[in-house]
Amino acid sequence: MDSTGTIMTARILDGNLMASTISQELRERIAKLRGQGIVPGLAVVLVGEDPASMQYVKMKGKNSQDLGMVARTLMMPESFSQAELIELIAELNADPRIHGILVQMPLPKHIDPQTVISKIDPKKDVDGLHPMNVGRMLSGEAGGFLPCTPHGVQVLLARNGIQTEGKHVVICGRSNIVGKPMAALMMQKQKDANATVTVCHSATKDLASYTRQADILIAAMGVAHFIKPDMVKEGAVVVDVGVSRIDDATAPRGYRLVGDVDFDKVKEKASAITPNPGGVGPMTRVILMSNTVLAAERSIAK
Ligand code: GUN
Repeated sequence: MDSTGTIMTARILDGNLMASTISQELRERIAKLRGQGIVPGLAVVLVGEDPASMQYVKMKGKNSQDLGMVARTLMMPESFSQAELIELIAELNADPRIHGILVQMPLPKHIDPQTVISKIDPKKDVDGLHPMNVGRMLSGEAGGFLPCTPHGVQVLLARNGIQTEGKHVVICGRSNIVGKPMAALMMQKQKDANATVTVCHSATKDLASYTRQADILIAAMGVAHFIKPDMVKEGAVVVDVGVSRIDDATAPRGYRLVGDVDFDKVKEKASAITPNPGGVGPMTRVILMSNTVLAAERSIAK
């Protein structure tokens, strides 16, 4: 509601639209690489049969193909061992046709994610999860790769003209893939960052007292429709990273995927909001494509 009592509806931060704009820019860089005899190649490795992960991996492969890149989608059985996965990564590290490697998370319980990630050549770690790239990101050093989801959020905000400098960014969630790097990116003394950052998590007491202070609220807990309007400041920008499955007998698969934000209600209070699906997801994938193109460009840079 504004000061006159009129119900406002938030501007939609359309991730699909933004991703297609960025894809167009990538096509030009890919064409230039082709002229130099290089086709960017991305290998995506999945271990196990988690249906959501299978879907994500297929979409990443499709995005790569649509851009005219080489896509290798490697779907390994649940029984695939950590040693076999490390061996596969070594092969991909050595393969000159592959410029980017992503190992889809979560991995089955018998595989330690940090051990596996640390085996990826940092120059091919387009997921930005290798300790070398995490360190570069944290110290604000160029030359690494920024993790896809947090950087996708940063780009979505920046290209929609949403200033972060001096703003209070409140992040709910502290995962290695989203929450922690999101905080690291937003706190940098750099363009499209320079925010005051608060990170909330499962041990935070009175979470709403923090979320209500947010100029920009980033929800990344993976709890369906957790963020309600009373947890959001009037006019805040709300970014929904979460994906959860909820039962829905009317949906073709018997379930549907929903975000962490109660979108229909929160959009009446926010000034801008990401839809979910169609917000952060396409941005994550286009940054993965962008990092792969960057890896290919760096592979021939003198
Ligand atoms: N699972 C969900 N998001 C991601 C991501 O950005 N990278 C990887 N490797 N796995 C994920």
